[in-house]
Amino acid sequence: MPERIFIGVAWPYANSSLHLGHVAGAYLPADILARYHRLKGNHVLMVSGSDQHGTPITVRAEEEKITPQQVVDRYQPEFLDCWRRLGITFDIFTHTRTQNHERTVHEIFLRLLEKGLIYKKTMSMPYSTVSKRFLPDRYVEGTCPNCGKPGARGDQCDNCGKTLDPKDLKDIRSKIAGDVPEFRDTEHFFFKLSAFERPLAEWVAKQDHWRPNVKNFTANYLKDGLIDRAITRDLDWGVPVPVPGFENKRIYVWFEAVIGYLSSTKEWAQASGKPEAWRDYWYGDVKPYYFLGKDNIPFHTIIWPAMLMAFDAQMKLPYDVPANEFLNLEGMKFSKSRNWAVWLKDFLDRFDPDPLRYVLSINMPETADTDFSWKEFLRRNNDELVATYGNLVNRVLSFTYRSFDGHIPENVDPSKLGESSKALIAQAERTFNEVGHALANCKFKDGIRMAMELARNSNRYLEEQSPWKSIKTDRQSAANALWTGAQIISCLKTVLYPYMPFTSAKVHDYLGFSGTIESAGWVFQRPAAGQKLNQPAPLFAKLDEEAVAKEMAAARS
Ligand code: MF3
Ligand code: ZN
Repeated sequence: MPERIFIGVAWPYANSSLHLGHVAGAYLPADILARYHRLKGNHVLMVSGSDQHGTPITVRAEEEKITPQQVVDRYQPEFLDCWRRLGITFDIFTHTRTQNHERTVHEIFLRLLEKGLIYKKTMSMPYSTVSKRFLPDRYVEGTCPNCGKPGARGDQCDNCGKTLDPKDLKDIRSKIAGDVPEFRDTEHFFFKLSAFERPLAEWVAKQDHWRPNVKNFTANYLKDGLIDRAITRDLDWGVPVPVPGFENKRIYVWFEAVIGYLSSTKEWAQASGKPEAWRDYWYGDVKPYYFLGKDNIPFHTIIWPAMLMAFDAQMKLPYDVPANEFLNLEGMKFSKSRNWAVWLKDFLDRFDPDPLRYVLSINMPETADTDFSWKEFLRRNNDELVATYGNLVNRVLSFTYRSFDGHIPENVDPSKLGESSKALIAQAERTFNEVGHALANCKFKDGIRMAMELARNSNRYLEEQSPWKSIKTDRQSAANALWTGAQIISCLKTVLYPYMPFTSAKVHDYLGFSGTIESAGWVFQRPAAGQKLNQPAPLFAKLDEEAVAKEMAAARS
């Protein structure tokens, strides 16, 4: 029975370009899992979209003196183009300004209101007498009451991940004019998060398969106690509040953006001509995964689950939230404001997607922050992709192609292979299963490391066998070694497919299999004796120090 896998990936704010940190944090691991499950024959739905509301967008628009709509219109096509080029295979990548999204948000809002889980209350919010307006969320900054770092925003501290209220901030200042705001009364809707403290704690306690960082963060968050949170803002950009008297206010961006997971599923169902199919991914036998960076954890393990419990107790809560830590750049945090970043679109203009997917996978910040450096990119590309995996594939296939007339050697009897050949094939069978297990458990780094270990051992095996020498004296022994090499390569093209899909498609083709690698599925496909090959070409390009030095210089400018 195929499984049903829902994969929600954090919705990027449509206020700036994507950088490698975003890719390593959420989009790549999500895509790896999606590709694995699709090969397994499972039903996968991977959704996301751009997060187009709230102060992240309006602050950006004010900085550039353009409208919020102009900001989001610039980034939506850019995101779509990046996914296509990097091979991130969303089933739908929409945005939060669709009618369908607004309808879904209103449905949830009104049902929670009806149930008394949303209520009105007057609160005190920062107001600038200079700008003559309220200053929600990113319009104020101050020192975090929790970790003491300056630069915390009105709704969250990026440093420690704590969700905040503006009145908690020390040394609060307006982001617009730098003035110290006063606090004025304003009426808002609140979500009764406090009512979900117990059910959430009970649910979280059972999630033993969650990564320790995710589980600990969430448990600590709950231990501090949950307070009701304002879910509307004094803003004019966002989803309208479906209640008279609130025409000048909007729904808080985080409250509505997470609803995108549900609304995008509905949009996908509608577009695929089965309007009711969304239910398959929200009720019953489905495993929902959510991919995000660590700063997004509380919204996905606390707020969104509480909203789902409040809305419809039958709906599936997250099964796993394998949040990643951060990727740093040359030892420092990625920073848009300090222009310290490698932008994904620039990267894809200059390099192939698979080497990036490789480097970010083998160095994925799964359990601790990791670092991207150009030097390491160069080293891993040249030593691991070109010299190890690429060399293995190229040597075996081009030599076989030349020496056996474009075919896998014919007269090979697997039962008569030597010990080292049999041992290598047994290792490939183990690796195949172990990588599958690692992928199913979101241990992406383990998976790719095991695959590369097999590639290294295979190169060693080929050194020993040296079919390029034995071909002259013992054609059978050369045939056996090349046949064995082809088997290993076929194993690698499948286990590496979730990580490097473009490369695996080529290897699949060189090996002479018919159909796409996707249609072959998650199987250790054995090239048959005598199978016709296609002319191979090198898989990866060697990078020279100079090109990479230029990138380094650009990053520093
Ligand atoms: N836009 C948010 C960010 O970039 C993530 C939103 S995830 C969603 O941090 F679930 F709310 F959509
Ligand atoms: Zn903090």
